[in-house]
Order: sequence, then C-alpha cells, then structure tokens
Amino acid sequence: MSKMEEIQKICLNRGIIFPTAEIYSTISGFFDYGPVGTLLKRKFINYWREVFLKTEDNILEMEGSIILPERVFEASGHLKSFVDPITQCLKCKSIQRADDLIQEKTGKFVEGKSPKELTEIINSEKIKCPRCGGLLGEVKLFNLMLKTDISPVGGQTAYLRPETAQNIFTSFQRLFRVARSKLPFGVAQVGRSFRNEISPRHFIIRVREFNQVEIEMFYDPQKPDCKKLDEVKNKKIIIFTREAQKKNSKPVTMTIEEILKKKIVPSEWLIYFMAKEFEFYKSLGIPEDSLRFREMQKEEIPHYSAGNYDLEIKFDFGWKETVGNSIRTDHDLKNHMQHSGVNLTILTDDGRKIIPFVSEPSFGIDRTIAGILLHCFVEDKERGWNWFKFPAKITPYPVAVFPLVNKDGIPEKAKEVFEMLKKEFDVLYDDGGSIGRRYARTDEIGTIFAITIDYDSLENDTCTVRHRDTTKQIRVKIKDLVSIINRLINEEVEFEKIGFLIK
Ligand code: GAP
Repeated sequence: MSKMEEIQKICLNRGIIFPTAEIYSTISGFFDYGPVGTLLKRKFINYWREVFLKTEDNILEMEGSIILPERVFEASGHLKSFVDPITQCLKCKSIQRADDLIQEKTGKFVEGKSPKELTEIINSEKIKCPRCGGLLGEVKLFNLMLKTDISPVGGQTAYLRPETAQNIFTSFQRLFRVARSKLPFGVAQVGRSFRNEISPRHFIIRVREFNQVEIEMFYDPQKPDCKKLDEVKNKKIIIFTREAQKKNSKPVTMTIEEILKKKIVPSEWLIYFMAKEFEFYKSLGIPEDSLRFREMQKEEIPHYSAGNYDLEIKFDFGWKETVGNSIRTDHDLKNHMQHSGVNLTILTDDGRKIIPFVSEPSFGIDRTIAGILLHCFVEDKERGWNWFKFPAKITPYPVAVFPLVNKDGIPEKAKEVFEMLKKEFDVLYDDGGSIGRRYARTDEIGTIFAITIDYDSLENDTCTVRHRDTTKQIRVKIKDLVSIINRLINEEVEFEKIGFLIK
C-alpha cells in the first residue's frame, strides 16, 4: 500500500475525508470533509488569511456566486478553450484523457497538440484501452465546465464556475471603488470551483468539486512595481525553468532578486507572492525538497495567461501543481469589456485611461490538504501507531483532555478543565479505554497536547501534559493551562521548560 493509500485509509476510518454519497457508490471525484477534516480545512484557510491578507493593506476579500451566466464564460474564453482531449474505447466505451494516456504509455510530452495529432500518436504508438485492451476512437475535445439551466422552461444556460476568479473580474468596477479607486489593489476569494474532470484520481488531488483561494492583483502595466519586494528579495526559492526542463537538468535554488534580474518571472507582484508561498508551504510541514516552482512550457499555459510559474508539491506518484501562479495581463477585463459593452477602463493619477493588468496566485485547497496529510504523516514503528505531525496553527484539535479513571471525582474535574479549555481551543474529551489507546487515537489526528487529570489533580490542582512529538510529559498548574498552551502554540517557550518534567 502506498503512503497516500495508507493516509486515505486513516481518513476513511477516522471520518476525516470520505467519498460523497458513498452508500450509493455512484460518482467519482467528489469528497466530503468530516469533523476533523473540516477543522483542518478551516484552520488552513484562516492561517492563509493571516499570511496573505492580514499582512497586506491593499488586498480585500469577497465571496461570489458559484453559478455564473454563459456570457461570462464566452467572454473569459472558458467556453472555447477550457477543454481536455478525450478518447473513447470502441469496445468497453470507457473514456480516457488522451494526453495523460499517451504520456503514461510513452513518456512523450504532448500538451498543446491538436486532436488530430493526438489521434495519430495513439495509432502510431498502438496505444490501447487501459481497461479492456480495445481499440481507441478518434480524439475529441471535451469542455470541463459543468452546465446547468436556471430557467424553469429551459434555455437559460449557466455554468458552475471553474475558477473563483471570474466573479472578481465581472464586479471589477465596484471592487475598484471599494479599494478607493487606487492601483495596485488585490481581491481575494475563498470558494468552490467545479471541473468535470475526465478521470478524477489520487484521492482529493484531482476532483470535480474543489476549493480554491485566489488573489487577483490589479496593477498599472506602466507601473508594475511591488512596493513590498524588498521584504522578500533575499529569500530563496526553488525554480524549474523552461530551459532546465528542456535540457533535462535539475531545478535550481535562486534568490528572488536573481530571478527578477534574469527576467525569469517578469512580474514583481507574482514573484512577491511566490516568495511568500514558498515560506508558507514550508511552515505547513512540507519540506523544501518536496516543493518547486515550475515554469510552464508555452504549449501548456492556460488560454488567459502570458506565463505560469506553478508551485508543485512532490507526492508519492510524482510532482503536482498546487498553486497556479499566472500573469493574466488584461485578458479578462478586456474581454469582459468587449462582451458586456461596459467600460472597465480606469483613469490613473496621471490621467491615462488604462485596463489594469493582473497577476494571480491560485491556491488549490484540497491539493494543499493532500500535501499536508502526506508530508506530515509519521510512520512510527517504535510508538506502534502512525500519526500526523500537523503544525500547531492548523492542527484540528490541538488539545485533548483525558480523565485517568472514570470514578472518584476525576471525570468531574476533567470536564471542568475541558469546559475551561473549550473557550479558547478546539478540544477533544476522551474517556474510553486505556490512556495508551487514547494517546494513539489523538496522535492519529495530530493532537499536540494531551492533558490527563489524575488523583494529584484533585489534591493540588495540577495535571499532566504530554507532547505529541516527543511523548514527553510535564506537570503544570491547571490555572496556567490556557496561557501555557497559547505560549507553546506560538512557540514562545520550550515545552520542557514550562512545567515540571516527569521522568
Ligand atoms: N484561476 C486560475 C486557476 O484556476 P488552475 O491552475 O487551473 O488555475 C489552480 O487551478 C489550482 O486549483 C491548482 O493548482 C490546483 O491546486 C487546484 N485545482 C485545479 N483543478 C483541480 C481539481 N480538478 N481538483 C483539485 N484541485 C484542483
């Protein structure tokens, strides 16, 4: 069993993440988040807000509708260009993504090739249906958007948005006014997106309904400078340039300053976000050697982009794009202006009428969660159980409270402590089975501090605290618990120094 499959098993057993409407075994590519998964996702989003919004004074957040009228996607180009090539088996009728299948079978890079060219490759390489070995039909293009009809009598086509970004472009005028009509400014959005993926796979990595968090950063193309660049210019990131990919050489570590100087990423705003992303993903527990930015080849870049530099995470099946970093130029605003007939130009301070340019980091939340689950997973033979080393900021339940025994007034005292801690943290109460079993259960979902109420607690108002990572235990005063846990979460103190270490 691969590590990801092992993790998926834990997610099912512990109700963290599981297939949607499972009892009907119907459609693939949809997942529900259970209580632990929901907390993990929510905390990830809040932490993201802390890092990417609260540190900025010119990025606002909005929340838009998921269903958008057809005309939006006519304008954005999704109706015409948001397509994948498919081929159907002539025998078993199963449908495959043609480019993925060719790449899997031959190792050839075929992005950007026409349906005719892909059909020719399938025939010349004698590629057969991976399910039944049957002959494959002609390659056709398939639009990934999910269609719906919003009129009771039909005829009013709409789509479930394939990215959150379009709400921001279509409401640009209002948002610009809220931002006091000044460039540069950004708009962020956390929300759901939908793509009718032909072959959803790898757990929550390629699904049909997923969560994104995107920032559209609007700036004057004649003044593209990012004032905060100095804060990150000496930071290093790992980048895999087009050239390096073509030469089959390795990604390299470079400072942000070097990357700009060499004009590898021609947008100050985008490289600023990329620098922040690299630090952010490391702080989520993903090691540096499992992160890289890959510059997309010309044939790969999406229809709206003038260049993509995507953050990829190394999974056990290979590298996977997790944040799309794109230079969207004025593509979207220009096209919405043409299609809607509404003027989306703005007047700059020096009197120029312009359409702002856009740089966009687009984070996939589910893919990030998969990366966190994989890289925080500790296979621990010594302990006898596997566990998640989630960082404190995002761990679903950072604290658990256990009564040592279920008698002699200990559960009552434990409940008191539980109620006190609940006001401050997400806390679990567990009174089932041996303390060892309870440690195992809470380790398994990444709980960091396990508090045991014992006979001493009744006598001197103290309790033991066990740390997930080291299994070391300290004894502390119950009245100090909230402050101690807060300081430990914020890494202001060392665990072993804040209480009486139990040998
Ligand atoms: N607005 C730009 C945009 O949507 P993208 O590269 O197509 O760009 C951004 O998507 C991110 O959304 C990806 O890097 C990925 O993390 C996530 N994503 C895209 N399709 C997905 C899918 N089918 N399942 C899960 N996540 C997906």
